[in-house]
Amino acid sequence: MTLARKRVTARFYLSPILVPTSHSFWYNIRMKMNRLVASFCSLIFLLVTFSFAQEKASPSAGLALTPPMGWNSWNKFACNVSEDLIKGMADAVVKSGMKDAGYIYVNIDDCWQVSRNASGNIVADPQRFPHGMKAVGDYIHSLGLKFGVYSDAGSKTCAGRPGGLGHEYQDAIQYAAWGVDYLKYDWCNTTSQDAKASYANIRAALDASGRPIVLSICEWGSNKPWLWGKEVGGNLWRTTGDISDRWGGKQKWPDGSCCSDGVLAILDEQVGLQSYAGPGHWNDPDMLEVGNGGMNDTEYRSHFSLWAILAAPLIAGNDLRNMKPEIHDILTNKEVIAIDQDALGREGERVAKNGDLEVWAKQLKDGSRAVVLLNRSESEQEITANWEDLGYPKTISASVRDLWEHKDLGKMSGKFSARVAPHGVVMVTVKP
Ligand code: GLA
Repeated sequence: MTLARKRVTARFYLSPILVPTSHSFWYNIRMKMNRLVASFCSLIFLLVTFSFAQEKASPSAGLALTPPMGWNSWNKFACNVSEDLIKGMADAVVKSGMKDAGYIYVNIDDCWQVSRNASGNIVADPQRFPHGMKAVGDYIHSLGLKFGVYSDAGSKTCAGRPGGLGHEYQDAIQYAAWGVDYLKYDWCNTTSQDAKASYANIRAALDASGRPIVLSICEWGSNKPWLWGKEVGGNLWRTTGDISDRWGGKQKWPDGSCCSDGVLAILDEQVGLQSYAGPGHWNDPDMLEVGNGGMNDTEYRSHFSLWAILAAPLIAGNDLRNMKPEIHDILTNKEVIAIDQDALGREGERVAKNGDLEVWAKQLKDGSRAVVLLNRSESEQEITANWEDLGYPKTISASVRDLWEHKDLGKMSGKFSARVAPHGVVMVTVKP
């Protein structure tokens, strides 16, 4: 081959789509080269697409696109958990209409575990869970629900049961084999552990199991998990200490340490966190106390409305087997639940405050707003939501609908005012 021929060949490597001018020996060579280059490009394209798909194929991708909804044993039953209790509660989720309203996860909190065996595998309490954890998971799944368990990033759980430290991958494989769909991971007995690294580690372990598992980070806001929770693959993170079944204030724990929080104390701690929440990753102001007896129905309605406007996970914590109708109606108010579950995934925020009178608002996917008028005082008060506080010009007219009365209130211009009961809310949507 001459030098001139070599130069021609090189030109066609660089210009594979040049159109040949004559049907000759060189025409055939060029066509072959073009085909070769085209195949090479397709191969590169496939490889890039494949490796991109591999990266995106984390089993946990796409979980919790709206705030998780379900039930958890802790607030009502603490360590008193058993197979019978959990199965009974799963039945009640279905029979009560909670499943139909969107409550899907049935989560066993602390105390299901008693020890580790000689291989280091976690052992469920054989008295309380005589058929093992897989049987419980299978039962929950047979009802079309999902199964959650609890562990801890440290050496022991908060109730002193074996924690996950050093067993993350072993436990993740075990959970996946039991069919676990949701893991709440606590922060007791973690001594000098780094929170972000610890939660990244358990997420990696869960993903390595191959099963999609929601990760609920429960480190009480101590290390500002809203700053890193999404990055480490957390789907929700507690923003505060434990809730207690109270309207106001904080209360010391029996050992004198501080504190469990009432609903208002938790609410105040959410201010300023709204930008960290979104589809797949939520601020968690803790589980619901609705129906546990410490508040009146007005206060429970407020608690539920505020959690919905905060786009909080709605994890009921009461005994669903015998709810009074008023509690059932709060937990299954589909209009309020729809605000929590709105697909835009915006967390609401406090947009106006005048002493004990507050306005909270949440932008919804269709451009309308959900609004809670909250009266923290001890007497009935009139509260006004101004359109400008909701991000609308005051001149527009908007349709207002009451989500507890299930009633259209008509078109209003510039503002909406209502009289609100002590410790109560009025919750509406405002749609221009
Ligand atoms: C911590 C958590 C609670 C609960 C208990 C269980 O206090 O914050 O939600 O899980 O541990 O021991």
